[in-house]
Amino acid sequence: MIRTPEIAVIGGTGLADLEGIEILESQWPTTRFGETSSPLIFGKFKGRELVFLPRHGKDHHLPPHTINYRANLFALKQAGVRSIVAMNAVGGITSKMAPRQLCVPDQIIDYTYGREHTYFDGSQDRVSHIDFTMPYHPNVRNKLLEAAASLNMPINDGGVYGATQGPRLETAAEINKLERDGCDIVGMTGMPEACLARELGLEYASLSLVVNWAAGRSDEVLTLSSLKVHLDAGMVNVRELLLAVIPIL
Ligand code: HPA
Repeated sequence: MIRTPEIAVIGGTGLADLEGIEILESQWPTTRFGETSSPLIFGKFKGRELVFLPRHGKDHHLPPHTINYRANLFALKQAGVRSIVAMNAVGGITSKMAPRQLCVPDQIIDYTYGREHTYFDGSQDRVSHIDFTMPYHPNVRNKLLEAAASLNMPINDGGVYGATQGPRLETAAEINKLERDGCDIVGMTGMPEACLARELGLEYASLSLVVNWAAGRSDEVLTLSSLKVHLDAGMVNVRELLLAVIPIL
């Protein structure tokens, strides 16, 4: 059956399924950029069709630098998607970005390297330089903020996302540098996802959940289990917010 979902949710760490959504079917599409992280999961919520894609794979086996971002975004475009909410688990750098805080960033700085980061790789017959002044789409950002307000859920409106290469976490000096650059949060999956979405003309915004203080910002040693405590607690809000934003996107 041909489906035409206009909305997509890209799941990050902690979001490998969409609870509360009626699942219609899953399809594993082929793209000329290779395979997506997992099958596309088509579902319905309050009469709206949507597609869900966990970027780390169903069983979270793909580290950030090995994700095929080009295939993922291209497959969503091929499926007919117009707007994307991308969930990102991040570290908090500035004081307002404490663990469990939510943020809808409005800017991004790219520190990644060696990733396939463009569809305009020279194989086309034209060169294209997209406008990326405002990397996140205002419509999707505003809907996320509107949904949070309707739930009385505190959320940071704006913030600079620093996208690092990983998979290791940063040094304290690297986080100090990111803060001097103006970053509020740090994560490993924000780029090239955001610019590939823009190259394809997709409306894209991030819903970021802070799961730890970034390196050097607390005395706590960063372990997977300490991140998981904040992740599990924060995901309750993320899931509630996603269900509230889907019908209004
Ligand atoms: N750094 C980079 N990526 C992350 C972090 C962090 O501290 N926490 C969650 N993703």
